[in-house]
Amino acid sequence: MIHTFDAVIVGAGGAGLYAALEASQTTKTAVISKLYPIRSHTGAAQGGISASLGNIEEDKPEWHAFDTVKGGDYLTDQDAALILAEEAVQAVYDLENRGLPFNRTPEGRIDQRRFGGHTRNFGESAVRRACYAADRTGHMILQTLYQQCIKNNVTFFDEFHVIDVLLKEQRCFGVVALELRTGEIHVFHSKAVLFATGGTGRMFRITSNAYANTGDGPALLLNKGVPLEDMEFYQFHPTGIKGMGILITEGVRGEGGILRNRDGERFMERYTPTLLDLAPRDIVARSIVQEIREGRGIRGDATIEDFVHLDATHLGKDTIEAKLPDIADFCRTYLGIDPAENPIPVQPTAHYAMGGIPTDIYGRVLKNGEGHLYEGLYAAGECACVSVHGANRLGTNSLVDLIVFGRRAGQNIAQFVQGSDRIPLKKDSTRYAQERISAKTGGQSGPNPEDIRTELQNLLMEKVGIYRNEQDMLETVERIRELRQDYSQVKIAHNTSAFNTHLLDILELGNLLDLAYIFAFSALNRKESRGAHSREDYPKRNDDEWLKHTLSWLEEDNIKIGYKSVDISRWKPKPRKY
Ligand code: FUM
Repeated sequence: MIHTFDAVIVGAGGAGLYAALEASQTTKTAVISKLYPIRSHTGAAQGGISASLGNIEEDKPEWHAFDTVKGGDYLTDQDAALILAEEAVQAVYDLENRGLPFNRTPEGRIDQRRFGGHTRNFGESAVRRACYAADRTGHMILQTLYQQCIKNNVTFFDEFHVIDVLLKEQRCFGVVALELRTGEIHVFHSKAVLFATGGTGRMFRITSNAYANTGDGPALLLNKGVPLEDMEFYQFHPTGIKGMGILITEGVRGEGGILRNRDGERFMERYTPTLLDLAPRDIVARSIVQEIREGRGIRGDATIEDFVHLDATHLGKDTIEAKLPDIADFCRTYLGIDPAENPIPVQPTAHYAMGGIPTDIYGRVLKNGEGHLYEGLYAAGECACVSVHGANRLGTNSLVDLIVFGRRAGQNIAQFVQGSDRIPLKKDSTRYAQERISAKTGGQSGPNPEDIRTELQNLLMEKVGIYRNEQDMLETVERIRELRQDYSQVKIAHNTSAFNTHLLDILELGNLLDLAYIFAFSALNRKESRGAHSREDYPKRNDDEWLKHTLSWLEEDNIKIGYKSVDISRWKPKPRKY
């Protein structure tokens, strides 16, 4: 079946929906999503979206941009960070005007809370910058944007999994997708395509990410010759529920929650005396690991590693129920405790990919480090790298990124579509997609895919996690190479057409393997420590040699590495101190 649109958006999280909202003002726009849109992972973002509204205390976009650059350990492109911080203010008011129910101050303004790494006056002290809707900020964004898209007549194709992108020379003109309900292949013929497919957290065993976060967009483009940027930078959120990884929002610490070790000590006093528990995530996650390594963690059992406590008991039941109701529910459901009475057992959890599909500040996909662009091909949100998060993202900046750069991409698409012709479809435009499916169906054979997935997730968790070293990463790259070969032999047992979730699982596993390969290889390649990339064998940041973005291309079984310069036009890189 062939569908014709001006703009096709792949992914229905915050970035995809905002882009669709903008594009659909003037163009015929479709959103294709593997999920029902309001189940997208943006809905799991809890604690807030930062904007320097200054509703509670003085604040400025320039301070927000500086924190973003410093938080990203100076790998952040500073022009992009300034756009993020400046446009965040209007973006939050736009969301408010579109109906988002933010928490309010007694005077009726949008309330703001503290979050990690957000400071006043270039690092002086913590500032209240995160606007929030209890601990359901992402969920509310998703609901608001989805309703607005429906109002704007965006056409939704729910439960469609994209398996090919149509590119002719450097021009994109559509995608091919599998309809999960029927097993049918659909061609979406368009003038522009935006990928907003979210994260890759399912590469890891302990993660805050939904099952759907398998990096489908970046993996597809990677296999079509598009490079990926800064894939070595993967963030661990300090506070996932022990053993499970389910997110306990930084908003708990924003409201005054304290991290404590087995002796009840507030250990962040030793690591970051100014910002304490609200230092950037890479630093807090490493501090937790350090406490555990030095024997001050709380003993886990045979299945659960050591952990620490997040103590919110002093906040009182009323504050917790009013401002952190989902967290209270998670604690009751998954841990059988009330956070108003007991500390929450937490450990770092794989949370966010700073790297992804390289784009310019309009969401247009880059071909190389020299700034050459694909035409009609866009990316935004976690699957993209603009690069506004550098080597480590600040909490709440992902939601800002989705809204600001999703909107910019949508606006650019609307303009691009007006002035461009439609590339004709070829007769065999479904061939690549058909071949991908037939390679994996037709009777069970080869290794067990579940074994491959489990091994991959354990491997990355243990060997390319918070701390890294040459030997572990070398072994990981080699092992992933073998796992990819094993995967090439896998064929599935079930050949049904309707809701063949087994086929979907296998296609997603292929994506995870390709991205894990690039991730581990890029990490091995970067011989320094910066932000979330912490090498025990190269413990220092090395600006002389490594103040540059990595680009990586997949060429069959080989990875080619290139580089791209970092925009440091506003602030000179300095050592990070908090
Ligand atoms: O902790 C949190 O609420 C997560 C926010 C984020 O990743 O930005």
